[in-house]
Amino acid sequence: MDTFSVVLWSFISIVSLIFIYFKKKYSYWKDRGVNYVEPTFPLGNLSIRKEHFKDFTIKIYKHKNEDPFVGAYMLTKPIIIPTSLDFIQSILVKDFSNFHERGGYHNEADDPLTAHMFAVDGEKWKFLRTKLSPTFTSGKMKFMFPTVVEVANQFNATLADIVKPEAELEIRDLLARFTTDVIGSCAFGIECNSLKDPNSVFRYYGRKVFEDIKVGPKIMLALHYPNIARKLHVKVFAAELTEFFLNTVRETIDYREKNNVKRNDFMNFLIQLKNGESIDDESSNQMKKLTIEEVAAQAFLFFIAGFETSSTTMTYSLYELALNPDIQEKARQEIDEVLKKHEGKLTYEAVQEMTYIDQLISEALRKYPPVVFLNRKAARDYQIPNTKTIIEKGMEIMMPVYCIHHDPEIYPNPEVFDPDRFTPEQIRNRHPMSFLGFGDGPRNCVGLRFGRMQTRIGLITLLNNYRFRPSPKTAVPLMFDRNMAILTPKGGMHLAIEKI
Ligand code: HEM
Ligand SMILES: *[C@@H]1O[C@H](CO)[C@@H](O)[C@H](O)[C@H]1NC(C)=O
Ligand SMILES: *[C@@H]1O[C@H](CO)[C@@H](O)[C@H](O)[C@H]1NC(C)=O
Repeated sequence: MDTFSVVLWSFISIVSLIFIYFKKKYSYWKDRGVNYVEPTFPLGNLSIRKEHFKDFTIKIYKHKNEDPFVGAYMLTKPIIIPTSLDFIQSILVKDFSNFHERGGYHNEADDPLTAHMFAVDGEKWKFLRTKLSPTFTSGKMKFMFPTVVEVANQFNATLADIVKPEAELEIRDLLARFTTDVIGSCAFGIECNSLKDPNSVFRYYGRKVFEDIKVGPKIMLALHYPNIARKLHVKVFAAELTEFFLNTVRETIDYREKNNVKRNDFMNFLIQLKNGESIDDESSNQMKKLTIEEVAAQAFLFFIAGFETSSTTMTYSLYELALNPDIQEKARQEIDEVLKKHEGKLTYEAVQEMTYIDQLISEALRKYPPVVFLNRKAARDYQIPNTKTIIEKGMEIMMPVYCIHHDPEIYPNPEVFDPDRFTPEQIRNRHPMSFLGFGDGPRNCVGLRFGRMQTRIGLITLLNNYRFRPSPKTAVPLMFDRNMAILTPKGGMHLAIEKI
């Protein structure tokens, strides 16, 4: 054979092999005779056209039928999108022992901040979750309550300088500055002052985190092929960011230990764990201590998990309240009445009594869940109840939170904003898996109480002093930023705000 023929035959063989490889990969669901969506080469059901991750699940959720899930493909990997709420309950709650993994990317050696509770699995996760859960009890929330109120009052004062007596504002960044200060204060014990100074270091790194995890090839590799990514020493976070958080935590711990400073905040609990002290009187079992790097990774996690989710929840709440003035008035009335009963003081008990505020936050989280899907991974082969289908070990499952929250069979007229959907009676009438804003089961959001607390305090302070209206720049309908992992309004959130 001449050279040309060799090259030609090699080329044809390689192309055929690739073709056979994909054909085999992409026949996974077809061979099993389940409900699935047809993939295309080579991205599976991901689209080349950039779309938000919620749109990926929406496309697939449309194929929901009486089967408990829709099979799909992420690149060449078959994945499961459950559509039955009973099946979701099996995964998240009943058969949790088989679905405790999230399969997140973590690389302790190259990228220490990634070794946080959200990303790690197995024994390491169990250890951290058991150790950290006691930091999030209602008792601990009560301790931290005054700190959050103090930051809210600073927020209120900052706003007074801007709104004189009315203004048109981009509120998303403003609210992110508020929650940055809250978490900075509660997780690091540091006054970040990003409210006064929009360019404070914490706010700078807060923005940087979300730049670093923007959906792109590196993140896709890390998320979907973590073992390869670890071998390639892929780092998610920039060295500058890692250094900043490690140093901040080291300095804070040093300072507190030298000066014997005790505060009612997350850092205090983390230091106790570092020193092997129990923070929960009931569990006196002596477990391994946390290292400084582990403390830093957890404080960092509280920071990233805590500020953006809560500030976008407040952003969407205010957006809907601006578009629905009657609901806004009703919320304000509740605040007025309860505060009167408590001599005008925003106490922990007063906040607990404002149930309508809580309902409207739940409704905002329903319509705009910051986390649009939940991830789990099978630890062992698992037979789906009442079917012949086996979920193989290692397979990924994506609970389509956004789609469930917008399913007209679960929430009639899903685009209507109605806090009355979350009266205790209405909640009882729905399947317990209908609301997944904080996930569910033993691996749900550990910071749920804190997230709700800071969101409530922020909204109460704002609604009590200011009225919100749409402005000519307010986007109706809302568009979402395709690059952001968390559901984020595109171009910020512009509202007219007026002092009461
Ligand atoms: C409105 C605010 C918040 C929302 C909507 C939210 C939402 C979520 C969701 C959906 C999950 C995944 C749950 C699952 O897979 O079942 C999660 C996990 C988590 N959240 Fe939140 N979150 C919020 C606030 C917070 C705050 C304030 C903190 C900490 C201070 C926090 C810390 C965490 C942690 C550590 C995890 C991982 C838990 C684990 O893997 O065991 N979150 N959150
Ligand atoms: C699966 O995804 C591919 C790529 O986006 C798309 O061409 C195909 O139509 C999708 N299938 C369904 C049923 O949505
Ligand atoms: C919030 O600021 C306004 C001025 O804009 C002030 O009247 C009000 O007393 C402040 N409320 C709190 C709780 O500090």
